[in-house]
Amino acid sequence: MNNKILNGKKLADKLNSELKKKVKKAIEKTGIIPKLATILIGNDQASKIYVNIKHRTCKEVGIESKIIELGIDLSKEMILDEIDKLNKDPSIHGILLQLPLPESLKSDVPELLEKISPLKDVDGLNPVNRGRLFDYIEESSPCTPKGIISILEHNSIELKGKDVVIINRSNLVGKPLIFMLLKRNATVTICHTSTKDIDKYIKNADIIVVAVRKPKFITKERIKEGAIIIDVGTNRIEGKLCGDVDFEGVLDKCGKITPVPGGIGPMTVAMLCENTFTLYKKQIGIS
Ligand SMILES: NC(=O)c1ccc[n+]([C@@H]2O[C@H](COP(=O)([O-])OP(=O)(O)OC[C@H]3O[C@@H](n4cnc5c(N)ncnc54)[C@H](OP(=O)(O)O)[C@@H]3O)[C@@H](O)[C@H]2O)c1
Repeated sequence: MNNKILNGKKLADKLNSELKKKVKKAIEKTGIIPKLATILIGNDQASKIYVNIKHRTCKEVGIESKIIELGIDLSKEMILDEIDKLNKDPSIHGILLQLPLPESLKSDVPELLEKISPLKDVDGLNPVNRGRLFDYIEESSPCTPKGIISILEHNSIELKGKDVVIINRSNLVGKPLIFMLLKRNATVTICHTSTKDIDKYIKNADIIVVAVRKPKFITKERIKEGAIIIDVGTNRIEGKLCGDVDFEGVLDKCGKITPVPGGIGPMTVAMLCENTFTLYKKQIGIS
């Protein structure tokens, strides 16, 4: 059964160690250290954990990382000012606004993302980079969908002509993934809470990408034999991390599956490091 598991942790470690060598070379050549600034607003414990993992991984690959912690009492204008300072600071090459934001700031997210310079937008969520993705330009594209594509490609999973069902339509996961899959000639179906007869789509899918915040949403009965399952969900049950798939239940029926933990999570962080390095090279003019 082990050969069914798409090991994101192992692949991310490999990509990070390759990147580490490239970062070292670039620093030796230019004397400039790549640097990521992450803005963390509020006290959400899960966000703090994710930011710390990103911070640690950046340091491991040789990227400097600065976390800017802001309280939820800050006004939108003050956060915009903070982003402006980072945009203008030449020592910062990448800016990440950790999402989700606290409830009181949720409606400000589009304006805050728009404020991040497209040149420093490591999660590809500024409207300029979203637009580029529309033209299949993935230079700075959202890290989670980029991680999904990377794990599929590194495992030689063909996308051309495949029926891919994405159960999620968020800006962070489902929407950007549509363009990345279309670019690779997959046939893409998006499902969400208003989808009628969702099982019709799930059952037909060669590849299922699920990110619904619901443990055991995908079960053995719902999938077709040999389906490839990408589990993006991160849920906690009694403190234990799990995805949106009944992992043990589907294992003998599916073709391949990403585990949680150890699947898309580490791939997302690896793509963040990769995007930071790409933007750094562009800003300092090296290839
Ligand atoms: N591993 C990682 O690095 C990583 C990165 C990002 C996100 N995540 C995880 O991915 C999950 C989704 O994140 P998100 O930010 O995209 O969340 P989100 O904005 O809440 O989106 C959830 C999506 O699931 C759909 N959905 C929920 N229940 C459904 C149902 N019963 N049937 C069909 N569709 C349903 C929603 O449909 P509607 O649009 O109709 O509401 C929505 O599109 C979370 O668990 C998050 O922690 C993991």
